Amino acid sequence: MNKNIAVIRGDGIGPEIVGQALRVLDKIAETFGHTFTYTDIDMGGNAIDKWGEPLPAAMLEKCLASDSVLLGAVGGPKWDSQPAANRPEKGLLALRGGMGLYSNNRPAKLWPQLAAASPLKPSIVENGIDFLVVRELIGGVYFGDHSTVEADGEKKATDIMAYAEHEIERIGRIGFETARKRRHKLTSVDKANVLDTSRLWRAVMHRLAEEYPDVEYSDMLVDNAAMQIVKDPSQFDVIVTENLFGDILSDEASMITGSIGMIPSSSLGEGSRGLYEPIHGSAPDIAGQNKANPIGTILSAAMMCRYSFDMPAEADAIEQAVHKALDAGLRTGDMMADGCRLVSCTEMGDAILSYL
Ligand code: IPM
Ligand code: MG
Repeated sequence: MNKNIAVIRGDGIGPEIVGQALRVLDKIAETFGHTFTYTDIDMGGNAIDKWGEPLPAAMLEKCLASDSVLLGAVGGPKWDSQPAANRPEKGLLALRGGMGLYSNNRPAKLWPQLAAASPLKPSIVENGIDFLVVRELIGGVYFGDHSTVEADGEKKATDIMAYAEHEIERIGRIGFETARKRRHKLTSVDKANVLDTSRLWRAVMHRLAEEYPDVEYSDMLVDNAAMQIVKDPSQFDVIVTENLFGDILSDEASMITGSIGMIPSSSLGEGSRGLYEPIHGSAPDIAGQNKANPIGTILSAAMMCRYSFDMPAEADAIEQAVHKALDAGLRTGDMMADGCRLVSCTEMGDAILSYL
């Protein structure tokens, strides 16, 4: 197969981790007889430096013309003084919105090799951690109106959180369908005791639940969910939730699995074109030092093969190679543990390639 991949190296550690993921994709192409063509896209801080804006229209066009997009990470202190509308993160949100990627899928799975790196007690970890956060990605407070005004001698800021029924229904269906492919359990997380958006969310989810009697459905308030994720993560299979709650809970979920550096994600809308990125940020403190963990990005490339390109064997091969590198005791700094060998970003890439 021929696939045209839009590649956003981004800022901070982005170029380093994407570099390793592309080496892996090249090896996959060679082994399985595919051709992957890469189109470089400027987005984030680097695009602000070069073009004055975080996502120039021509860059979005190129992403829309691709078969899928691979992204490292964007942002950094260099652009902190940019006006809100021109921050690197705005580029990411415009990309998600512009591509219509409403469904963000973030797996929280404990790699057995990393059990010791989890901050949770062994008695909790040994019950297993294997759940998915399905996060609504292009609605809610992220995409509502934002304003800051002067009134009565002080500033007042407002962010609007809005959801329409169809936005809830389409992500709700993804939650149920995903649960059907897993352990048939869906937890919908909201704040229905306070928010109107959550009460609407819950009503739509209950309506959908009747169509999926084979899925064990429950509601959970977001504050309780934050607590349950550290108290007993084994109770979760699929969590479906709105944009902001999903942002927060997915960071929490990643941490209990040992390292946020390991977690990939997919963002999809209608059709097979997706955006694949590790869930961590651009880590400016270690940028350019060859210390970053490339695994979240490499596993994102595996997800791209699986979900956008219908290449399950290729995805399996990448994931198995990551397993072997971890089995061999290789660790980047973020997940280093006693008895393991500290390796650089490129050495981790070398090892994974050698197992492919
Ligand atoms: C994420 C990130 C982004 C988000 C930021 C960089 C805008 O935290 O992908 O989780 O909040 O969605
Ligand atoms: Mg986040």
